[in-house]
Amino acid sequence: MNEQQFIPTKYSNTIDSGKFTWSSPSNIAIVKYWGKKKDQIPENSSISFTLETCKTMTSLSFTKRKLSSNFSYDVFLDNEKKEDFKPKIETFFKRIEVYLPFLKNYHFVIETTNTFPHSSGIASSASGMSALAMCLMSIEKQANPGMTTHYFNQKASFLARLGSGSACRSIEGDLIVWGKHGMIDGSSNLFGIKYPYDVHPVFKNYQDTILLVDKGEKQVSSTVGHDLMHGHAFANQRFKQANDNMAKLIGVLKNGDVDAFIEIMESEALSLHAMMMTSIPYFILMKPNTLEIINKIWLFRQNTGLPISFTLDAGANVHVLYPEKHMKQILEFIKNELVAYCQNGHYICDKIGFGAKQL
Ligand code: PMV
Repeated sequence: MNEQQFIPTKYSNTIDSGKFTWSSPSNIAIVKYWGKKKDQIPENSSISFTLETCKTMTSLSFTKRKLSSNFSYDVFLDNEKKEDFKPKIETFFKRIEVYLPFLKNYHFVIETTNTFPHSSGIASSASGMSALAMCLMSIEKQANPGMTTHYFNQKASFLARLGSGSACRSIEGDLIVWGKHGMIDGSSNLFGIKYPYDVHPVFKNYQDTILLVDKGEKQVSSTVGHDLMHGHAFANQRFKQANDNMAKLIGVLKNGDVDAFIEIMESEALSLHAMMMTSIPYFILMKPNTLEIINKIWLFRQNTGLPISFTLDAGANVHVLYPEKHMKQILEFIKNELVAYCQNGHYICDKIGFGAKQL
């Protein structure tokens, strides 16, 4: 499997104009991706739950124009023109042009909106880039109607990866692996795949309540963060730890060992932040309230024996994860004891989901 398979040879239909709309979810990693090589190739394998509620809806309208040497597009977020989004789209188009050679033949209008507030501290790059990749693949499918769903999704994931690494895990659900791993058949550095082995029912209905501790802009962009893993004193050890955790998870997911799952997930979250705290320059992305919440979760777990756990992205917000079976008690605890640590009491109830949908 290599990049060449995604370079189209010819299209059977020509298209003058059209519009496609996709809704694509965010995802939350259990084993984290942090550190990459050239061309968005991850240093280690990662696995995530696809989410259901935190989504981006993107419409892509396109009209044929005279062939030109540059890309032509306008971007709107919530009906407002966003000039500041254009450099990211430009980089994305440059990276994927070889795989979608029609890009310079059209003028595009990209209209996008998120179900979660833009300034919530929830990264919209995974859902945003995957939604755009799905729209672009719809154009290619119209040009080549014989395309299989498998190829469509695989190439969408491949393209989304070139926009934002973790976006390649947002095409399908419910558990997605990205990054070659010796023990996971079909895993690839180029795109995400559905986790191919048995998953115990306890992990099939996981809930993710996202506590918005700090809605501000991220202090460190993930591009800068990934870059700081080059020459990081603990880099190789970290990549090995992540790959070892992936191996451990295979048995844990099969047997429904929730305690072992929690240990891997929380250790991964803290290891991700430990990498930022020990890079040069160093950062602390957790806030005092992040730590308050983590300590409260640990205490509640100890006192009740309930399988409540947390993970973190590259920011201060806390994802609280737990099986649906315990939702009533855990949500009550969240409302009574954790919401006070959220900015303006803001939180989002999400859960494991099944991937992008065409609207
Ligand atoms: O997709 P990026 O380049 O924004 O990287 C995101 C990495 C983390 O969200 C911190 C971890 C992960 O695996 O999703």
